Amino acid sequence: MNGIKIRPETEKDYRAVEELTREAFWNVYKPGADEHYYVHMMRSHPDFIPELAFVLEKDGRIIGNIMYTKAWLEDENGSRKEIVSCGPLCVAPEFQRQRLGKILLEHTFELARKMGYDVNINFGNPGNYVSRGFVSCKKKNVSYIVDGNFPTALLVRELVPGALDGRKWMYIDSTAAACCEDTAAVERFDATFPPKEKKWMPSQEEFYIYRHSSVVR
Ligand SMILES: CC(C)(COP(=O)(O)OP(=O)(O)OC[C@H]1O[C@@H](n2cnc3c(N)ncnc32)[C@H](O)[C@@H]1OP(=O)(O)O)[C@@H](O)C(=O)NCCC(=O)NCCS
Repeated sequence: MNGIKIRPETEKDYRAVEELTREAFWNVYKPGADEHYYVHMMRSHPDFIPELAFVLEKDGRIIGNIMYTKAWLEDENGSRKEIVSCGPLCVAPEFQRQRLGKILLEHTFELARKMGYDVNINFGNPGNYVSRGFVSCKKKNVSYIVDGNFPTALLVRELVPGALDGRKWMYIDSTAAACCEDTAAVERFDATFPPKEKKWMPSQEEFYIYRHSSVVR
């Protein structure tokens, strides 16, 4: 992989991963970003899965990472199954679109499968995920617990084909990302990094559309 290696994240990588996350997400989904704060807080959340936190390293520099939390699916009888949810996932801007995101996803899919997980679900821009086997939640009968809808951005990847067996499911996400609702805490954390200009980018509107629309038929 051109001198790029993939390895588990260690404590020594924490700040570098937060810096990378800030760079990669800055202005993509909102003016500025809060994903670096999410990463920072996620590691001490009970739903965090440290065994699935991986980094890409090139010449001693962290240029990509992926993290996971637990999430759940509940069927019509109220029976729950634990699954995984990937994200944040990022690659340093100058290394994007070179299939490094693919490596992070596929490496951790394999590991998650070995750990006994059979489904991965997350909210994301479909363009980043459909070529990695993710499909619309609607196709797998997975609605979002909060409103019963099938959000366009809610994407399902069976790690074991047929794992969802046609039942009706509701997706219950981890509360780990709720830390970002404390915008003052996000700002305080962000102030520990070099200043960076917040601005509008078209990708923000694109994701708004995905996040606030649903697949209906
Ligand atoms: C999303 C991200 C992790 C993808 O990593 P990457 O290494 O750039 O992606 P890959 O090269 O593996 O390509 C992933 C897929 O994106 C799509 N893609 C590739 N180039 C693209 C382009 N120029 N425009 C739009 N989509 C493109 C393709 O579907 C591609 O699959 P393919 O390789 O089978 O064609 C990376 O772009 C990133 O860090 N973005 C900012 C943070 C972010 O949005 N993270 C995801 C949260 S939803």
